[in-house]
Amino acid sequence: MEVRRAGIRDVEWCARTMAASDPWLTLGIGEQRLRKTVAAADRELYVAEREGAPAGFILLCLAGPFTGYIQTICVHPDHRNEGIGRRLIAYAEERIFRDSPNVFLCVSSFNGGARRLYERLGYEVIGEMKDYLVRGHGELLMRKSRGPWKEFRAE
Ligand SMILES: CC(C)(COP(=O)(O)OP(=O)(O)OC[C@H]1O[C@@H](n2cnc3c(N)ncnc32)[C@H](O)[C@@H]1OP(=O)(O)O)[C@@H](O)C(=O)NCCC(=O)NCCS
Repeated sequence: MEVRRAGIRDVEWCARTMAASDPWLTLGIGEQRLRKTVAAADRELYVAEREGAPAGFILLCLAGPFTGYIQTICVHPDHRNEGIGRRLIAYAEERIFRDSPNVFLCVSSFNGGARRLYERLGYEVIGEMKDYLVRGHGELLMRKSRGPWKEFRAE
């Protein structure tokens, strides 16, 4: 498996893969909006390839007050539980920890599988934003930290 920076031709596949999967189905977020999210100029998109074809991706936002945010991760259903998600998160952490001592992400309150994976990887729930995207479901903000900013030395 190889992880590489995505290009414009990857946007379509990423948006389509998300649109066909939970949590985005339950959240009612469609392909058109997801295409804009994935293609946003201030994000970094990385694709995991298996045998030369995309199998999953991760979208990072390195700007803003809480620097180092994993905005989205999605692995194609045909390739789940093969360790690709874990590899993509490790790749994102390596990238983010160059700039900041924190990695943030959000997980939907109904997405127990993803939350379990993040907790296993050292993420802690900071709090819940109730009714954040749709009424009845919350978003849990999670953080993995290497320590306070004061002690952080940018590489
Ligand atoms: C969550 C996800 C990115 C993990 O990627 P992966 O390649 O399947 O993960 P890995 O093989 O490295 O690790 C397996 C773990 O992923 C989680 N997982 C597996 N299938 C999942 C699914 N369909 N939905 C959510 N989480 C899942 C589980 O925690 C699993 O561990 P378990 O043994 O405790 O069940 C992937 O399952 C996925 O794309 N799910 C749908 C989209 C999603 O929920 N994205 C996260 C939004 S915050």
